[in-house]
Amino acid sequence: MSVRALDIPLAPSAVADEIHLLYGSHTGNGEAVAETLADNARQSGFRVSLRSLADIRPAALKKMRHAAFVMSTHGDGDPPDDAIDVFEWLESGGSNDLKALQFRVLALGDSSYTEFCAAGRQLANALVKRGATEVAPMVECDVDFADDAERWSNELLEWCRENLTSNAANESPGTPVAASGTSPTLQGIPITPGWSRTRPFPAIVERVQKITGLESEKDVYHLELSLEGSGFQYLPGDSLGVWADNDPELVSRLLRKLEIEPSELVDDDGRIRSIRDTLTRHREITRLNPNVLEAWAKRDQTRARGKLARQLAQYADSQRKQFLEERQLPDLAEAFPLKLDAQELADLLPALGSRSYSIASSMSMVDEEVHLTVATLHSNAIGVARRGVASNHLNHRIQAGDEIRVFLEPNRRFRLPKDNGAPIIMIGAGTGIAPYRAFMQEIEESNRQSENWLIFGNPYRRTDFLYQREWLKWRSKGLLNRIDAAFSRDQAEKRYVQHVVADQGQEISRWIEDGAHIYICGGLAMGHAVEEALIDAIAIGRNIDRDAAKQSISNLRRERRLLKDLY
Ligand SMILES: Cc1cc2nc3c(=O)[nH]c(=O)nc-3n(C[C@H](O)[C@H](O)[C@H](O)COP(=O)(O)OP(=O)(O)OC[C@H]3O[C@@H](n4cnc5c(N)ncnc54)[C@H](O)[C@@H]3O)c2cc1C
Ligand SMILES: Cc1cc2nc3c(=O)[nH]c(=O)nc-3n(C[C@H](O)[C@H](O)[C@H](O)COP(=O)(O)O)c2cc1C
Repeated sequence: MSVRALDIPLAPSAVADEIHLLYGSHTGNGEAVAETLADNARQSGFRVSLRSLADIRPAALKKMRHAAFVMSTHGDGDPPDDAIDVFEWLESGGSNDLKALQFRVLALGDSSYTEFCAAGRQLANALVKRGATEVAPMVECDVDFADDAERWSNELLEWCRENLTSNAANESPGTPVAASGTSPTLQGIPITPGWSRTRPFPAIVERVQKITGLESEKDVYHLELSLEGSGFQYLPGDSLGVWADNDPELVSRLLRKLEIEPSELVDDDGRIRSIRDTLTRHREITRLNPNVLEAWAKRDQTRARGKLARQLAQYADSQRKQFLEERQLPDLAEAFPLKLDAQELADLLPALGSRSYSIASSMSMVDEEVHLTVATLHSNAIGVARRGVASNHLNHRIQAGDEIRVFLEPNRRFRLPKDNGAPIIMIGAGTGIAPYRAFMQEIEESNRQSENWLIFGNPYRRTDFLYQREWLKWRSKGLLNRIDAAFSRDQAEKRYVQHVVADQGQEISRWIEDGAHIYICGGLAMGHAVEEALIDAIAIGRNIDRDAAKQSISNLRRERRLLKDLY
């Protein structure tokens, strides 16, 4: 056959149009939405390519004609790690090179964050800037994303029916499917049989024990829960979703301030219950979100003196963010009291969400138990002592024998390496140590042959070295090769984990060259500082410039050897 013959275009109906379903997901919600959509689209006879943004070459976007993106937001309005390369590529150029691409975006987020669905918006804007056409407005989903995601998926399928040619057969042989290792039944383990976020398992509390010293500023507890009867199979790196109740005392104070009778009945999504029960179990009153603040200011303007609206009008975005972070609803009610009836209050507030906690145990060691490491979130920013709802519930309001509603949140992006011999460097501060305890239990039980290094930080060695005895035991058994700790306040000059990383540049580079996987877990700010320090460490360790070191970090991320779990 001549080359010319191959160049003859196929009749338009001979090859079905391909739709690219691309997701940027960290905790798996977006991935699950994209997978379900891909199954449905294939069953409807469309040619589908389903991939994480981490698994495409960004420039491949230039060749695509039809794409649908499912994009979650993480950090402080940032894209998930898997999407960073694509975002950087999109923002690095200005030409019209995506003009053949028609796309739509489903953005996943949580409206309690100031930067709600910011990564989805950023993606859509960047694509348009490079010439792509947005065929339908972006849909923003909040925590309960299922209905909106289904509607968006159905609309997309409808669009495909009207605009794309389909295959009679389900799928063409060459169509890429989910990258290996990213399917929902990874490692063949049934993950949460029957139990879910909306149908949580009632776990029995077995132990609640304070693990920071009496004089510590930190109030950290170790919790053990029984999962007997749940059928849960979790893996080190997963998190546990927890439903907690608001403190009844805080609810009473809020109702007193607003002069609402606690027993007054309200309609809560079709269920009639007292406003006290509604606030205690079903509404956020500790996390203030931007929508609640806006609504409060609006009512303050119409029903009171408009002081809040005037104050907010003078704020820059960062001041508004700080205002929200420093206050809970009772503080807002105290400073800007409103006349509201019980139903108006219930309607104004978002549903109480679950909270996530890294699992601090391995089932290989603790069997049908799950362990958590929980720091009570407390603040005194505006001169009133306040605690977070879930951390307070877990650490101070439950005890052995009580029940707590939980569900599993698998995290396939924070697992021990598949290669049993690959070295690991575990970097974390505060409760960021929790998943590493799970890793070490797994290593102890499974006889992994890897070299393992812990870099841990907290304020004081004497009061804040979480699980110290266990780390020393693993060290003496030869399972943990190195422990480097940064106790920030044990010396005049503050020393944090990022300083250890910076000091250990040569050694870290050597470990990376030996195939090490690097894990970072804990607060967002610590995570960013450690990543910066890693870039410097690699630059010094390999004697290369910072840009080249940055590239190495990107490569590690792409190879899934730099894994982060930041909150
Ligand atoms: C994947 C994942 C794993 C996690 N693992 C752990 C863990 O192992 N151990 C652990 O203790 N926590 C962990 N967290 C954090 C945990 O989920 C909760 O966010 C934390 O316990 C606070 O929840 P809360 O209900 O007590 O506070 P909330 O009631 O949500 O917050 C109370 C107040 O604090 C403010 N606030 C909330 N968070 C912050 C913050 N970070 N900085 C400043 N102000 C804030 C709010 O504006 C509010 O006014 C994890 C989070 C994620 C996403
Ligand atoms: C640590 C953390 C930070 C988050 N930051 C934001 C944010 O800044 N803005 C937002 O809208 N949602 C934020 N979210 C909510 C997620 O976008 C939401 O849970 C989404 O469903 C996650 O999708 P994924 O599982 O596909 O990653 C955050 C979630 C976590 C766990």
